[in-house]
Amino acid sequence: MNKPPDHILVIFGASGDLTRRKLIPALMELQKIDLLPQRFAVLGIGRSNYTDLTYREMISSHLDEPGEILPLLHYLSMDPEDKDSYPKLAARLQELGSQREIAENIIFYLATPPSLYATIPLFLSSKGLLTESGDIWRRIIIEKPFGMDYTSAHKLNRSLLKYLKEDQIYRIDHYLGKETVQNVLVTRFSNGIFEPLWNRNFIHHVEITASESIGVGTRGGYYDHSGALRDMLQNHLLQLVGFVAMEPPTVIASDAIRNEILKVFQSLRPITGDAIPKQVIRGQYMTSHVRGEAMPGYRSEEGVPEESRTETFVAMKLFIDNWRWGGVPFYVRTGKRLPTRVSEIVVHFNASPHPLFCDQQGSSGKGNQLVIRIQPNEGILLKFGMKVPGAGFKVQEVNMDFHYKDLADSYIPEAYQRLLLDCMQGDSTLYARADAVEAAWQFVDPILKTWEENQGIPLHGYPCGTWGPEVADQMIEGEDHTWRCPCKNLADDGLYCEL
Ligand SMILES: NC(=O)c1ccc[n+]([C@@H]2O[C@H](COP(=O)([O-])OP(=O)(O)OC[C@H]3O[C@@H](n4cnc5c(N)ncnc54)[C@H](OP(=O)(O)O)[C@@H]3O)[C@@H](O)[C@H]2O)c1
Repeated sequence: MNKPPDHILVIFGASGDLTRRKLIPALMELQKIDLLPQRFAVLGIGRSNYTDLTYREMISSHLDEPGEILPLLHYLSMDPEDKDSYPKLAARLQELGSQREIAENIIFYLATPPSLYATIPLFLSSKGLLTESGDIWRRIIIEKPFGMDYTSAHKLNRSLLKYLKEDQIYRIDHYLGKETVQNVLVTRFSNGIFEPLWNRNFIHHVEITASESIGVGTRGGYYDHSGALRDMLQNHLLQLVGFVAMEPPTVIASDAIRNEILKVFQSLRPITGDAIPKQVIRGQYMTSHVRGEAMPGYRSEEGVPEESRTETFVAMKLFIDNWRWGGVPFYVRTGKRLPTRVSEIVVHFNASPHPLFCDQQGSSGKGNQLVIRIQPNEGILLKFGMKVPGAGFKVQEVNMDFHYKDLADSYIPEAYQRLLLDCMQGDSTLYARADAVEAAWQFVDPILKTWEENQGIPLHGYPCGTWGPEVADQMIEGEDHTWRCPCKNLADDGLYCEL
């Protein structure tokens, strides 16, 4: 891969958690593999009072081995909400550019609270800092959450599009930066064997789980205004649905792929009215003991009101009304304080139409499963029936699996590393487009609104360390299936997840 073009990366919110934990380490990795531009500088922005030197010291104190990244870091102390400080920013960029002979290309990364996502581009634009000319480009990366509902997302898009063209805006969804998520496309579209079966004629249902074992920690104040539906399902899980369900793009190019994802979102059958309590289960973790250890309930977490009705778990049954997926249920679930941290997609194929054989338990005809493990212990697993050696025709379910760790070169880049590099290269394939973000909000909005207006819809408590409320199990068990339990199958699958 070629080095990206020379540019300056401006990070608003440079004193924050995301910059320290994700952005700077991602830049360090890019530097290690020689994929930073030849001429490159980072300019951190924040109200906190640092000089270049003290900023480097602060960043360094959070890194195990800062390596060579520190000399590339600079800092400008300014309040992003103060319009009058933007000439100072313009002057500093000019100075950095000429000192280091960097072309005028700039990425502005907004790692600030979302309340600044419209303000910063407005002020940047008023100083002409977003204007492109000739080969000179200006790009802006926006962190999640991208809106809190359809109206706010649409408003934000409209205001950004006043100052920027869509191809200058990079809305980050770090799930799309994961190697294993991108591999969904490669598995589907580079192999001849899966795609002919990838439709309602052969697939019984699809399951997607993204669980976390941790609680909200110190982010209670933020999380309480968000909840699992907004924080995980509207963006990450629907993007996974998009990758699993999309039609083959005409080419592997940003708009071709994103057009297909949009069509999936536009085909989601709205969940409204009486269907909401049946198809969308919400839960909240309760004070409980996990393996002898006391775990605080969500309402006892720092920053969370005692009466909070914010969901920390959501499970949903959804349908995609198009020719490929008509009638195939997709079950998606996500939550905090579940037994383990795991994200995976499980495609359940139909059982054989005429069950000739019995399995070891004496029952017949289980469908094959294709498990795509996003994290941890990334890999792919196909479950199928095999004859037990000896007399008769007893069937045993066995696994055919591939583990990323077994590849000779098993280096899996961090999502932020891949996404930053893509933005530097001008490739927005793995970033969310305005229309898709809005379509995803249009799908979840009626649910959020109904939950808000109808307190009678249950918010189920669930003990920490379980897979959420039991009703979420019934949603799928009622149809003679269960959620795949990645922990129980650990030893069998080899795709163990640490408990
Ligand atoms: N942390 C993560 O892992 C993560 C993951 C996904 C998305 N995000 C998103 O990324 C963004 C940044 O997250 P973070 O965790 O780094 O947040 P953070 O630590 O709370 O804040 C980032 C920085 O923004 C600046 N800031 C805070 N309030 C401000 C205000 N009112 N006006 C101007 N600047 C303000 C602060 O710097 P100064 O006080 O120096 O100005 C702060 O260091 C958020 O939108 C978050 O939702 C974060």
